[in-house]
Amino acid sequence: MDGLRRLEYRGYDSAGVSIVNRHHEIETRKCAGRIASLAKLITAKPPSGSFGISHTRWATHGKVTDENAHPHVDATGKLALVHNGVIENYQALKEQLIQDGDDNFRSNTDTEVLAHLIGKLYVDSCATTVDVDQKKSRLVNAVRTALRQVIGTYGIALVHAEIPDFIIGARRGSPLVLGVGKEENFLASDVSAIVAYTRDAVYLNDFDVVAVERGKFEISSLAGETGDRQVSKVEFTAEDVKKGDYEHYMLKEIFEQPNSVRDAMRGRLSLEECTAKLGGLNMTPQQLRDVGRIVLTGCGTALHAAMVGEYVIEQLANIPTEVEYASEFRHRNTPMTNDTLVFAISQSGETADTLGALRESRRKGHRTLGICNNVASTIARESDGGVYMHAGPEIGVAATKSFTSQLAILTLIGLLLGRMRNLSTAEGSRIIGALQALPSQIEEALNLSDQLKAIAKKYVDASGILFFGRQFNFPIALEGALKMKEITYLFAEGHPSAELKHGIIALVRPDLPSVFIAPDDAVLSKNLNNMEQIKARKGPIIAVTSGNGAKQLKEVANEIIVLPDAPDCLMPILSVIPLQLFAYHVAVELGRDVDKPRNLAKSVTVE
Ligand code: AGP
Repeated sequence: MDGLRRLEYRGYDSAGVSIVNRHHEIETRKCAGRIASLAKLITAKPPSGSFGISHTRWATHGKVTDENAHPHVDATGKLALVHNGVIENYQALKEQLIQDGDDNFRSNTDTEVLAHLIGKLYVDSCATTVDVDQKKSRLVNAVRTALRQVIGTYGIALVHAEIPDFIIGARRGSPLVLGVGKEENFLASDVSAIVAYTRDAVYLNDFDVVAVERGKFEISSLAGETGDRQVSKVEFTAEDVKKGDYEHYMLKEIFEQPNSVRDAMRGRLSLEECTAKLGGLNMTPQQLRDVGRIVLTGCGTALHAAMVGEYVIEQLANIPTEVEYASEFRHRNTPMTNDTLVFAISQSGETADTLGALRESRRKGHRTLGICNNVASTIARESDGGVYMHAGPEIGVAATKSFTSQLAILTLIGLLLGRMRNLSTAEGSRIIGALQALPSQIEEALNLSDQLKAIAKKYVDASGILFFGRQFNFPIALEGALKMKEITYLFAEGHPSAELKHGIIALVRPDLPSVFIAPDDAVLSKNLNNMEQIKARKGPIIAVTSGNGAKQLKEVANEIIVLPDAPDCLMPILSVIPLQLFAYHVAVELGRDVDKPRNLAKSVTVE
């Protein structure tokens, strides 16, 4: 239950557990709702046993009901299975099982079909009496045979009532990690579930099947070949995944940003050469010089970081840079030249769409690098190199600290490539100085939390919120709107400020505030014009500015938030902070579940 709670941020529609008891029976407790509901079921009727599996679900196939919650059992009721991912050909497999006489389906899930398929193959292979060791190898074989018939993605764990102390796991497309303990071993989809028990982990690869026992484990391929695997040390501790004194993980993570941004830059600045050092890119200076085009890809918040990255890299390095939605990029034929360098940006390193984009890009022969937080993630392992964020675990479903780390890293990439081209020593030195000042400037931005709380209280009844920004801060408008939508459920949209007059202005009315990210930069006066257009139509204005911007905005804006000044290309790292805090305080005012907003999951490992 403790491990399951640590994974709740990944999905929280329903939860369940199956324990094998000493009478060789599977005891399952499962229900729709949060883990707290499951805990009540368990307290009311505790299962007894010392090995089992559990799951917290983010629904893909089948509504959120008790029946559709995992674990699912096979037709005999003796095999229980949990599954992340999607079995795409589950209908065809189910029809075949029904034709073969299986009329025991209880749910509408794709997962139950997999449980039934493995169960049938196992029963068929045990026609004669077999001992426990033979049962183990036959169950592993049944898993392999079933998975070879599956189209789709899976991270699974299963137990069988007749085989004590034996759990099988397998993965393709959905993460699975083995925790290696002393006379105990664990399987989980994320190390945060097991780090309180062991920091030794084996990150499984696609098509791995692992048979786990108390004192040993064996990893083999779907074809049955076995091999040794490296045991890695988990780089964070159980303390890192706790909330501490904060009311929510999101708030804790917002306040961690001075440190996480510092950690993203640690050891990566060369003061002497006025450039960045990014050894993880695995590229020679000549290869870096030969980069003619850059594609940045990701989803959600990571995509917004990419959009800022486009402005930053083009400004610092003058290399044509494109941003591609990972989900679109992987399915379309983006024209790519041989000198194109691709970056896949992902906090979790497990997002299915971003992983798909990475694989597609590599398949076409492009060097593809990762910008990930999770060092052992699939994207980190499958890319040709990259830059780790070192932001520490991010638990809040709304991404915050990973975003500012991504921005810092994209700036380092721009700086490095720029200094190999036309960026002067003086300009490089100015950027480095400004990067070094960021952590204390973020502290200053965090001090605005009370002001944002007061603004949140004032506008909590708004019918929606619009966000506007220009240039480097246009993607920040998108990010501010995304944060607002996902944790408050208010309607929110982000736009380039000048687009206002091309249609959006029709929405403006007194109960729809507009947030302008309008620092004291070259486009402040343009932003000011757009604010006037809204004011003329009685729309309230909340302005995020910097330096002396407040003076110019005081006649037009209803609320003014003042940030410290930074070079234009670094301003987004500061300007996003008040927007994170604003969304957070509105969500708290509305009584929302900040860390686990409805319908969402932290890491989306399905398409
Ligand atoms: C951000 O607040 C969201 N939860 C979501 O958009 C997220 O950024 C996206 O799913 C990508 O996740 P990743 O960085 O782990 O790939």
